[in-house]
Amino acid sequence: MVYSPKEDSYLLKKWVIKLSKGKKVLDMGTGSGIQAMAAKLGGAVSILGVDKNKKAIELSKLNAKKLGFEGVEFKYSDLFLAVNEKFDLIIFNPPYLPFEKGLNYEKDYDLVGGEKGNEVSIEFLKQAIEYLNNEGIILMICSSLSDPFEIFNYAESFKYNYEILEELRLDFETLYCVKFYLKN
Ligand SMILES: C[S@@+](CC[C@H](N)C(=O)[O-])C[C@H]1O[C@@H](n2cnc3c(N)ncnc32)[C@H](O)[C@@H]1O
Repeated sequence: MVYSPKEDSYLLKKWVIKLSKGKKVLDMGTGSGIQAMAAKLGGAVSILGVDKNKKAIELSKLNAKKLGFEGVEFKYSDLFLAVNEKFDLIIFNPPYLPFEKGLNYEKDYDLVGGEKGNEVSIEFLKQAIEYLNNEGIILMICSSLSDPFEIFNYAESFKYNYEILEELRLDFETLYCVKFYLKN
């Protein structure tokens, strides 16, 4: 199954369109390809979407073709394993739900971010340092369901600054669209 865009996707998409102009973009966990295509709409100069779900890669290629988005590339990668370049903008709408009964960590990796839910986000931020150009930024969704403040503390320990660009309060959670960038 491939993640269908939801409130988190639309919140991030809005900021991706605003901040992509002239940038070389990596869309981590591309899913349907929504953020990669948003980067194209926003005027990115090159875009690579990656996902560890092979079905997501097939679907995002199909969606981009159907919707007429040319020059957007997609390939399989588990986090940065198959990535070997640097980018100006790295986007991630991560799986952020905590593990709970009814969810299966092996199967539901579009949703579950680990035992507490924020583990994939923290590991992503740790690895992303190597793939960011000078002045590069990360746009990532965080959720009140998986201790965003722990993510921010880790980010600071990895030498990122961060800024919450927008908060979206829903019935059961608050979503944060967050910009991370490396301290000089
Ligand atoms: C919440 S969905 C977001 C999908 C899409 N980007 C959006 O905004 O709607 C999270 C995506 O991350 C992918 N993902 C999870 N763990 C990953 C990993 N270790 N490496 C690459 N992609 C991963 C999932 O397969 C899923 O497509």
